[in-house]
Amino acid sequence: MRVPLLDLSAQYELLAEPIRRELDEILRTQNFILGPKVEEFERALGEYCGSPHAIGVSSGTDALLAILMALGIGPGDSVVTTAFTFFATAGCVARVGATPCFVDIDAPTFNVSPESLANFLERQCRRNGVGQLVDKTGNIVRAIIPVHLFGLCCAMDEINAIATSYGLTVIEDAAQAIGAEYPGKAGGRQAGTMSAAGSLSFYPSKNLGAAGDAGAIICEDDELAERFRSFRQHGMEPRYFHHVIGGNFRLDAMQAAILRLKLPYLNEWSAARRVVADVYREEFGRVGLTNKITLPSEPYRDFGLTNHHIYHQFVIRTPDRNELQRALASRGIGAAVYYPLGLHEQECFASLGYHAGDLPETERAAREVLALPIYPELTREMQREVVHAIAEFFA
Ligand SMILES: Cc1ncc(COP(=O)(O)O)c(C=O)c1O
Repeated sequence: MRVPLLDLSAQYELLAEPIRRELDEILRTQNFILGPKVEEFERALGEYCGSPHAIGVSSGTDALLAILMALGIGPGDSVVTTAFTFFATAGCVARVGATPCFVDIDAPTFNVSPESLANFLERQCRRNGVGQLVDKTGNIVRAIIPVHLFGLCCAMDEINAIATSYGLTVIEDAAQAIGAEYPGKAGGRQAGTMSAAGSLSFYPSKNLGAAGDAGAIICEDDELAERFRSFRQHGMEPRYFHHVIGGNFRLDAMQAAILRLKLPYLNEWSAARRVVADVYREEFGRVGLTNKITLPSEPYRDFGLTNHHIYHQFVIRTPDRNELQRALASRGIGAAVYYPLGLHEQECFASLGYHAGDLPETERAAREVLALPIYPELTREMQREVVHAIAEFFA
């Protein structure tokens, strides 16, 4: 049996009719950019996330870019983040002229390690003559970008406490974690709402996927939200008067309308992904594989949250990763490596001066991770096929 890594067609079948009606209406009105469909989606998204402001933008990448631009982060600044993430996280930092500084991950969760972050700030940074925190290169350390990878929130209480003690701004990259909850000291909080601003991606494969590129910024502060809205549209207010240099980061009406239609299903879909994760856990236990592979950790499972993990990806680890991926492919089973190389070792960041061995847990994860098929429509039979194929590989 073929088991694709992802199959979006089943979800489309469910909503095909209402989607076609919405698109037809937009085509009739020819109101394509921003406008009422985008505003309606923004209201619904803000409500879903428990955030007073949701600002629709053109992608998750542009959400991060607009946030960094609006916060005035640029040349001479450093931003601390993880090297075990999609390129956009650090790419955006570099694109505004700032420098990404990478700290290591916590092995079980793949998320930024608060210890590694604290060590970096304490041992590799110092206060300059005017009290600013500077790194070894003399850049001013301005912000931290934790990434809620694979649908699991970072240890935000610890990260926020460290940020506060150093006077740093936190920006959450919640591209993979819409709706994911964190059991904070102050109660359950959603990904993207635990910092100055959060970025979301609606890339089609995300738990909430558009029919193209789309993203959003969420934030609590009214004034900051206005700045993000302005940066989304070339810093223009009113028309053709520009206060700041922003960009074209606008969301279009067709994507917004589709996302608005899908949003009420999101919790159900994420719950279905958790069921898939539970079935994998059960099946891997049944065939006695849990000593051969490491399953994803669920640190927030017993806190009574709805979305303790949204399983954007179900990522296992094994030192035999490459051979296993090849064996699965030969049986028509999709599996993917997110991510095969830490950003600190990417060619485009060579000038930052990192070397192999600098971030041992990131590098080990890059060698061992393998994402298995996970989506609401994955059947138990398909999952058994995946587990059976992995069991045969290790037999
Ligand atoms: C962690 C992370 N950050 C940022 C992005 C960028 O989002 P987009 O592809 O919508 O630009 C992604 C998308 O895959 C992501 O996974």
